[in-house]
Amino acid sequence: MKLRIKNILNKPPLGETLTLCGWLRTRRDTGGFSFLELNDGSCLSGLQVIADASLANYDSDIKTLNTGASLQITGELKESPAQGQVVEMHATSVEVVGVSCPDYPLQKKRHSFEFLREMSHLRPRTNALGAVGRVRSRLGYAVHNFFQERDFIFLHTPIITTSDCEGAGEMFQVRTGHEHGSESHFFGHPAGLTVSGQLQAEVYAMALGDVYTFGPTFRAENSNTSRHLAEFWMIEPEMAFCDLQCNMEVAGDMLKYLIADVLEHCVEDMQLFNNFIEKGLLEKLKSVVEKDFVHLPYTEAIELLEKSGRSFDYPVKWGIDMQSEHERYLCEEVFSCPLIVTDYPAAIKPFYMRMNDDGRTVAAMDILVPGIGEIVGGSQREERLKVLEARMKEAGLSLEEYDWYLDLRRYGSAPHSGFGLGFERLVQFVTGMSNIRETIPFPRTPGFAPC
Ligand code: 4AD
Repeated sequence: MKLRIKNILNKPPLGETLTLCGWLRTRRDTGGFSFLELNDGSCLSGLQVIADASLANYDSDIKTLNTGASLQITGELKESPAQGQVVEMHATSVEVVGVSCPDYPLQKKRHSFEFLREMSHLRPRTNALGAVGRVRSRLGYAVHNFFQERDFIFLHTPIITTSDCEGAGEMFQVRTGHEHGSESHFFGHPAGLTVSGQLQAEVYAMALGDVYTFGPTFRAENSNTSRHLAEFWMIEPEMAFCDLQCNMEVAGDMLKYLIADVLEHCVEDMQLFNNFIEKGLLEKLKSVVEKDFVHLPYTEAIELLEKSGRSFDYPVKWGIDMQSEHERYLCEEVFSCPLIVTDYPAAIKPFYMRMNDDGRTVAAMDILVPGIGEIVGGSQREERLKVLEARMKEAGLSLEEYDWYLDLRRYGSAPHSGFGLGFERLVQFVTGMSNIRETIPFPRTPGFAPC
């Protein structure tokens, strides 16, 4: 197996001669020596390599190396006398695999995230974006562990779909270059990129019990905010014989599990975020793992907002779709912890949510977290055929087109629930990044999709 800096630093094989590959972060020369900081992306730390003038290519290659060059280095690993590092490598060979140039854009100084966004092809080589990449990877792994440990079946739902789950008309259309009019639709029907895998996940939940999807999701909304993307990844479990209470328990357990996992496995990267991105991040995350989430019905949330004496940009009254400023006020200023808001007005929620006995609210739940607002949206699903048909008619949906979905209520219908966790919002919460565009390798937002 290829040797990586992370493995070496975890358990340094002192005295051994090793070969490593990576990129040059910095070079410093002092009287016949060069100190090279090599980073290979396996961890935040680099390895200090000492190359001296006895190497055949010292004057020709090593002394002229530019930041960003790729190198293959062989040398002996020794204890380091320098402060702040345990080991260093004394090179016996430094092979330049790929040169770099003096105009390499990532010189050793702090660059703004806005500047780095303009070069999404180079930004993972920075400390912060590299750390986000590793934490994101670990979170993805932990998502699968969480569900697999609980016997959920992993399901691939389609990316191209003909049903608009959220019913908000935010679908990107999918067309070939040859379609003219309705006669020539490639799929025989207008199609789009999925806004959620939920409806298809419901199909499998009604056969396999507990399932989850984890895939790309697309929203053609013109939202230029720090928490919206046009392409993002969503984790959507769907559970048969599960009501709203059970749904909230799974969602809360999942968030705690994922956060505890990165706190345990990404110590160095999490410390970087705590030091440079969000002071107090580690404390915040530990308290999320330890404390119970507060449960708050929507009606009580509105009462709290009305009594707050605040003048919000978006006026508060029962029936509004809560905005980020309301969500953040509640979980940052009133409760200072994650909040599960339940039982929203039916009129502002999609057709599939189960109608409550009051006839005006639905069995919905959103989890709100400090700094971001909504991170999870879910509900118990309407399993009663007649009630669902009435809700769909009200929403102007064609019962014919959703006949397959109604079949799930005709044949062996059962109470079931699920939710969607926005993966980038989770990465944002865990890393403390203030803009969601730093949480996905290649962000897509209105007017922006460079590579
Ligand atoms: O609340 P949403 O729209 O719920 C659904 O799509 C349901 N069908 C999920 C389900 O019940 N299976 O989205 C769920 C989550 C949000 O809470 C948010 O975290 C994230 O997806 N999300 C976005 N993340 C980034 N950019 C956007 N434009 C997002 N829209 C939603």
